Amino acid sequence: MVVVAILAAGKGTRMKSTLPKVLHSLGGRSLIERVLNSVEPMQPSRRMIIVGYQSEEVKVAMQSIPNLEFVEQTKQLGTGHAIQQLLPHLEGYNGDLLVLNGDVPLLRQQTLENLLKTHREHKNAATILTANLPEPKGYGRVFCNGDNIVQQIVEDKDCTAAQKQNRCINAGIYCFRWQDLAKVLPHLEANNAQKEYYLTDAVTQVAPVMAVDVEDYQEILGINDRLQLAGAYEILQRRIKESWMAAGVTIIDPNSVTIDETVELQPDVIIEPQTHLRGHTVIKTGCRIGPGSLIENSEIGENTTIRFSVITDSSVESSVIIGPYAHLRGHAQVSAGCRIGNFVELKNTTLGSNTKVAHLSYLGDTTTGTKVNIGAGTITANYDGFKKHPTIIGDRTGTGSNSVLVAPITLGNDVYIAAGSTVAQDIPDDCLVVARERPVMKPGWVTKKRESQSK
Ligand code: UD1
Ligand code: CA
Repeated sequence: MVVVAILAAGKGTRMKSTLPKVLHSLGGRSLIERVLNSVEPMQPSRRMIIVGYQSEEVKVAMQSIPNLEFVEQTKQLGTGHAIQQLLPHLEGYNGDLLVLNGDVPLLRQQTLENLLKTHREHKNAATILTANLPEPKGYGRVFCNGDNIVQQIVEDKDCTAAQKQNRCINAGIYCFRWQDLAKVLPHLEANNAQKEYYLTDAVTQVAPVMAVDVEDYQEILGINDRLQLAGAYEILQRRIKESWMAAGVTIIDPNSVTIDETVELQPDVIIEPQTHLRGHTVIKTGCRIGPGSLIENSEIGENTTIRFSVITDSSVESSVIIGPYAHLRGHAQVSAGCRIGNFVELKNTTLGSNTKVAHLSYLGDTTTGTKVNIGAGTITANYDGFKKHPTIIGDRTGTGSNSVLVAPITLGNDVYIAAGSTVAQDIPDDCLVVARERPVMKPGWVTKKRESQSK
């Protein structure tokens, strides 16, 4: 049995933000959500979040996550003081307590499982996660004997010059036998540079305490300022892109590409430079995405090509060619074999298969049949200033250049709209529609005009 406690009461002064530190977003998820995710497989019996600074905001942000317990630390007197707040809640509890810092978001589940395993196998009173950092500045230094038994933890601000040379740091992740910790917690003192009650002091007051070294130090990097937040994003992105490349995705110039963890890619997808894939996006095999595209919460079928375009909340079937400079949004649905060209916007629009919207069009709230050809500059006038109205276009229908379709309107199958027409009524099947002025022609008018002016 394990109870998890997450330290999240601190202000995060160095973020210089009105938002509590643990609510800052890293790749679409808050720091604290990420920490919670890392303990999920352990199925903790209780998950306790220690909140203090702007606790209401933290609670509201996390209200959709079930079975969390919030414990208030009204004054933030240090990490040891934070864990003291658990005493009344865990009275009589006989198992282990896993303590995590709310600002250490890149931990792998496996690392925590190893920590707990070592803790139990060695029957330790406490087991702490350590790392060897190339730049240990700011972290507490851990001093061990040869058998990984922890003897001392000294905060950076309390270190002597010689102690600062030690690169073995405290990751801020601990496993405690609760009964042992509960005995020493009430006796902590704040005799240190920060005048705080340190949890690290409690660690060295129980025995035995063992250190488990993390394999990849990047996992335990803490976020204290915006620079570290950006650094963590870079690490996260590298992890994601490396794993997709290992799974058969080509990423040309990975440094210019970002991919959310929630994205799914199939083998033989090619991601061109300057492309960003976000949210619940799925891209199927054979697609070539980019350069210069943003796809968010959208599904893209096999062998589709998308260049310099933006697609959000939409779905595209197989063998579609999109772009350059197209914008699909608001549940656009594009069937197989369509072609969407430059400066085309589709909003809440469904295109039947093999339809072409090749240039300069806006289709909003429109449904087309198959093999429709939307001429350059065709616009649906779907908004009357109060409401949006639908446009329905039948199979094999074509609109001439610069047509305006005033919705609500239905064009039947095999309709031809002449270029430059404004159509505001339903059109039956198999019809040619010419809705424009006939030209007024005055032969000889120009010559006469010139003659009259030269007199
Ligand atoms: C802490 C450790 C340090 C370790 C580092 C790892 C102590 C004394 N030091 O230092 O050894 O190397 O983490 O990242 O524990 N918090 C509260 N209440 C408080 C104070 C802090 O809940 O009164 C929370 C913060 O919100 C944060 C976490 O505890 O999530 C760590 O606090 P922080 O001030 O960042 O500690 P560090 O100085 O980084
Ligand atoms: Ca910290």
